[in-house]
Amino acid sequence: MVFLFRDDFLVRMEKIVIANWKMHLGIRESVALAKMTLLALQGKEVAPKVVLLPGFLALAEVHKLLARSRVALGAQNVGPDRFGAFTGEVGVGHLEDVGCTYVLLGHSERRVHFGESDDLLRKKLQVIFRAKHIRPILCVGDTQEERDAGTSVEAVTRMLRRALAAVEVPKGALFPLIAYEPYWAIGTGHRPTPQEILVLFRALREVLHELFPDRDTFSLVYGGSVDADNAYALLREPEIDGVLVGGASLKVQEFQSILTSACEVMTYQSSS
Ligand code: PGA
Repeated sequence: MVFLFRDDFLVRMEKIVIANWKMHLGIRESVALAKMTLLALQGKEVAPKVVLLPGFLALAEVHKLLARSRVALGAQNVGPDRFGAFTGEVGVGHLEDVGCTYVLLGHSERRVHFGESDDLLRKKLQVIFRAKHIRPILCVGDTQEERDAGTSVEAVTRMLRRALAAVEVPKGALFPLIAYEPYWAIGTGHRPTPQEILVLFRALREVLHELFPDRDTFSLVYGGSVDADNAYALLREPEIDGVLVGGASLKVQEFQSILTSACEVMTYQSSS
């Protein structure tokens, strides 16, 4: 079986492609780009799970388009409560209202520019777990200094532990998808080799198995300067479950070509 669009976990042959549009697009542009994504997937029998992350204000309009499609909708962030007296925040309840089934958490831009702490991240995770229909995409990454010092594995596994160690994942909650996004690779055109990514992924999977011994599968995606040229090499690695794409997801042809790479990898892997 190659056509799996299950939200609870990914199986080996599945690939996921996540488009993080950041704060780049208005509502009309977001709807237009979502339409192009649907067109790119039209008629494809074997296709990756695609998740679009528009800005908050575009979520409702993009949802209208995606509602009966195989493309999922997610938010780039969420506040640490469902609803309530928190002026200016967007709660998990709002994300449910607009049909989000994913939410990005702990992106380096949130941590660096908005001072988001591990405590806040854990609070957000707890609230999302109770929502039950929203799967968190939890970002972890190493800095340039950590890479230069050869401490990337320690840095990234420490970050993962901080986010998840004291967190209870209730039965029935959607387990987070883990996104390894090196800080130094985001928007820079620099990226680790697939082999370097696999070293990090193995270390992350070890921590996940240790923290959650009852779970068999964990899904990990890579993000940071993914583009049409490198997507195939990343996606063809069976241990890399998918890619999180920023800048290249805003360029129609570039993103279509990333989707085509994912389709090709899945077709190849399902027939071999
Ligand atoms: P990039 O961004 O693909 O532009 O490097 C990735 C991200 O920030 O999620």
